[in-house]
Amino acid sequence: MSDNDDISLQTRFAHFSRPKAGLGTPVNYGIDRASTLLFDRAEDLYRSDLRGYGRHGSELHDNLEAAFCALENGAGTSLTSSGLSACSLAILSCVKAGDHLLLTDSAYGPVRSFCLNYLNRFGIDTEIYDPRIGAGIKDLIRPNTTLIWLESPGSLTFEVQDIPAVVACAQAQKVITAIDNTWSAGLTLKPLSLGVDISVHSATKYFGGHSDLLAGAVISQTKAMARKVNQTRRQLGHSLSPDDAYQVLRGFRTVIPRFRHAESSALTLAKWLEGRTNVGRVLHPALPSHPDHNIWARDFSGGACIFSFTLKGKNEDDAVSFINHLKLFGIGYSYGGFESLAIHCGPQLRRSQTGQDFGGPIIRLACGMESVNNLQHDLEQALNALT
Ligand SMILES: Cc1ncc(COP(=O)(O)O)c(C=O)c1O
Repeated sequence: MSDNDDISLQTRFAHFSRPKAGLGTPVNYGIDRASTLLFDRAEDLYRSDLRGYGRHGSELHDNLEAAFCALENGAGTSLTSSGLSACSLAILSCVKAGDHLLLTDSAYGPVRSFCLNYLNRFGIDTEIYDPRIGAGIKDLIRPNTTLIWLESPGSLTFEVQDIPAVVACAQAQKVITAIDNTWSAGLTLKPLSLGVDISVHSATKYFGGHSDLLAGAVISQTKAMARKVNQTRRQLGHSLSPDDAYQVLRGFRTVIPRFRHAESSALTLAKWLEGRTNVGRVLHPALPSHPDHNIWARDFSGGACIFSFTLKGKNEDDAVSFINHLKLFGIGYSYGGFESLAIHCGPQLRRSQTGQDFGGPIIRLACGMESVNNLQHDLEQALNALT
């Protein structure tokens, strides 16, 4: 992330969506909690230019949608009540019965399950592809392929996809591309500028920032796509509660410094872990040893708070024991919050194209706001306890 980008976006987020100062105006808009919206004339109930019901959002939601558009230079955003519902909304906006969907092998597990175990009931055929397939994806595109789903770096194992190569093949065949961009928070990867049609976020992570809410956002590159996604959102009844919308918008104010702290800690720990006793591979794309480092360096402007590593010559029980020895890293799912977290990945790892063997049990670390020295000591004592 260059300092220039950093400052301009950071300044925008600090000043974004604030009421005009008067005589003692709060710095942020308040929360309008409403299901019913009242009208003083019955004729206005069915006007298409007015918001008719709480599920359709509020001014606060409009401001949050504008913040996501500013983040990724999108044409429109739809908000949902979780990252997973944002992913399923994006997919449902693009597919119909009889369609073929291409899904990266390292997609977030519940998205994989949604495609393979739910969409299949409606005659939508999901084919899993190797995240490193690049331009080879053209051989998988069929006449009925409507959507290619990307996630880069992939969940748990952090393969980086050649987004421009996949997009070029998709565009040549008029196939829509959508990416789960949660890892980068839209700060270190701008997929819409690489030609991707839809970028999806779990706002639960960095934008919530405090592990106390769930939210999702679907950002579209064009107005037409944004209308399509929003229409599907309304048909499915998705909404984000006003309280959560408020917290996510507040999260935008500080997301960049929080992200940068965690990004820097993650890289420091990844470098330190390389070559330690008991450590096999370190799966962080900013490391030159990562097989996709060059693609990452071309398309990304920085890292993120989360990466994985394997334990050398150890088994899944050792991974559990290692995590149980950690004192500062909490044991729990998610990332982007203020506290560091660790999980062992084996039980949820599903790979059909890339294989399940990564040379040892995989541990995923998510860095929070703690001092990186303290986190490093924590990892060191837990690694020492293994020997
Ligand atoms: C890459 C990715 N996408 C989507 C999600 C789902 O987000 P949520 O927990 O907000 O439903 C997660 C959650 O861990 C994730 O890691």
